[in-house]
Amino acid sequence: KKVVVFISGGGSNMLSLAKAAAEPDFPAEIIAVISDKAEAGGLAKAAALGIATASFVRKDFQSKEEHEAAILAELDRLQPDIICLAGYMRLLSAAFINRHAGRILNIHPSLLPLFPGLYTHQRALEAGMKLAGCTVHFVTEGMDDGPIIAQAAVPILAGDTPETLAARVLTVEHKTYPLALRLVSEGKVTMHDGRAVSHGVCD
Ligand code: GRF
Repeated sequence: KKVVVFISGGGSNMLSLAKAAAEPDFPAEIIAVISDKAEAGGLAKAAALGIATASFVRKDFQSKEEHEAAILAELDRLQPDIICLAGYMRLLSAAFINRHAGRILNIHPSLLPLFPGLYTHQRALEAGMKLAGCTVHFVTEGMDDGPIIAQAAVPILAGDTPETLAARVLTVEHKTYPLALRLVSEGKVTMHDGRAVSHGVCD
């Protein structure tokens, strides 16, 4: 399966996907990394791995529609089977999502449906949670609310700050996203009628 990864920043999740996909038995290949930030650190890391990169800077376009049209044209050229949002900090329009329905995955640093949106670690701490974690889900029109593919939890420890918790969650993000991508690439999990359906996978 051909995969395009979208990033906006350092791309640590993109890197973990690229490393997993480099294994001979992995059922997917990262064919390109796209960013909405020309300076995204992940672009240089992807290029260093020999992965094609492209950036589409929002301010270079007259509107959100034209920005997305340029990205969609690149995707039509690349023809990916799967699109992985990985630290991509921009909401996709319904038109964009419908164009690639069931093919877009996202990783979010909380145990959805808890804490959609931003500042998830601070909110988990403020709520007195004892667990935190990450969620990989299919992307639907709502923000951070598509069908869940995989999750992983970590303990919240005494003295945790948003930074220490983010670092602990990131370690399981880097394991969970490659697992989720493998399941989707192998067709073991699909999105059907707005639900994630497992095919022969022990839940
Ligand atoms: C990660 O916590 C990810 O869950 C969120 O953005 C953060 C940075 O991701 N979406 P990355 O290091 O750029 O992959």
